[in-house]
Amino acid sequence: MSVFRVAVIGGDGIGPEVTEQAVRVAQAALRHGGAAIEWDQLDWSSALYLKSGSMLPADAWEILPRYHAILFGAIGRPDVPDHIPVHDFLLPMRRKFDQYVNLRPAYLFDGVRSPLRDKTPGSIDMVVYRENTEGEYAPIGGRLYQGTPEEVAVQTNVFTRRGCERIMRAAFEGARKRRKKLTSITKSNAQTFGMVLWDEVFGEVRRAYPDVESNSLLVDAAAMDFVRRPEAFDVVVASNLFGDILTDLSAIVVGSPGLAASGNINPERKFPSMFEPVHGSAPDIAGKGIANPLAAILSAGMMLDHLGVSAAAIAIRRAVAAVLKAGQPRTPDLGGDARTKEMADAVLAAL
Ligand code: NAD
Ligand code: IPM
Ligand code: MN
Repeated sequence: MSVFRVAVIGGDGIGPEVTEQAVRVAQAALRHGGAAIEWDQLDWSSALYLKSGSMLPADAWEILPRYHAILFGAIGRPDVPDHIPVHDFLLPMRRKFDQYVNLRPAYLFDGVRSPLRDKTPGSIDMVVYRENTEGEYAPIGGRLYQGTPEEVAVQTNVFTRRGCERIMRAAFEGARKRRKKLTSITKSNAQTFGMVLWDEVFGEVRRAYPDVESNSLLVDAAAMDFVRRPEAFDVVVASNLFGDILTDLSAIVVGSPGLAASGNINPERKFPSMFEPVHGSAPDIAGKGIANPLAAILSAGMMLDHLGVSAAAIAIRRAVAAVLKAGQPRTPDLGGDARTKEMADAVLAAL
């Protein structure tokens, strides 16, 4: 039997609340799997930063590669400037571990009401492949004359041929396993360097995949179409920032941020991949015990799938689908009054 080591980093706000439930469910799902997991809880968070001056131990980046995968909640809290947890931890992790594929599926489950009228179960079923290591998130730039009227801020986007090519290839490979449709998100009409390179590389990569129907769409039009006709999308490939924004949109059109799972994947498996809900730490509901844990639970399912424990991964997805179809319990984001734990209990029962 394979034994995997998983680092669990709940983080801030609702992060620990939802990851706790995800671990319970994943652990139970292993009955279907033929694998075991040793879970290590790491209390790296903004709370630790407030206590110790750092949200990570000094050897954090030596500790994490010892794990097969990382299950993450969310970071960010109102009394700590966002750039501390995000730029000390989350974005460096995606880059250091070369997790260049940020896989973000959106599926309209039976029993969940989309805010869009008349959408039937399964009619919205897409996966966004978000570039996760460069683009608009490259920490390159600077500020001059700070605090004066002459102040200047420069933030440089970084697009590399290799970076564009590898995320696009991953997306085409993904499309081959689905409905063989791929849309590349661009803004080359305004961003004439980085996005023109993006388009050129897309034009080259698509030639290797004649069996996949592919097109290019401007991000503003894509935002409209995610609402107007989300059923038109199968696989979408987007840059870091565009992928970030569009996946909050894809999350809400399938019912709730509380349902959107993701994987930050290093396809070469040289480093651990990291699995987390798309949503953040939700300070507005943190500590109330009412966060929807299903995004975290589905993220744990994606992790099991990545680790090759597919029977357990499938079991989790089926159990979540069954709970949603049953119509209750439901956390407030889905229109009910159930608590986080009741929702996870229902998934455990369905398992
Ligand atoms: P958010 O995703 O935390 O919350 C947006 C809205 O969605 C809120 O109304 C929240 O209550 C709701 N929501 C989110 N998850 C939910 C869940 N599981 N169940 C029910 N409702 C849910 O986004 P925000 O408010 O813009 O950001 C809050 C903090 O989180 C910020 O510090 C931000 O930087 C951080 N953040 C972190 C991550 C991450 O760690 N990966 C992702 C996004 C935002
Ligand atoms: C996400 C988050 C992060 C991102 C933030 C916290 C930097 O919004 O994972 O979607 O933009 O990547
Ligand atoms: Mn986001």
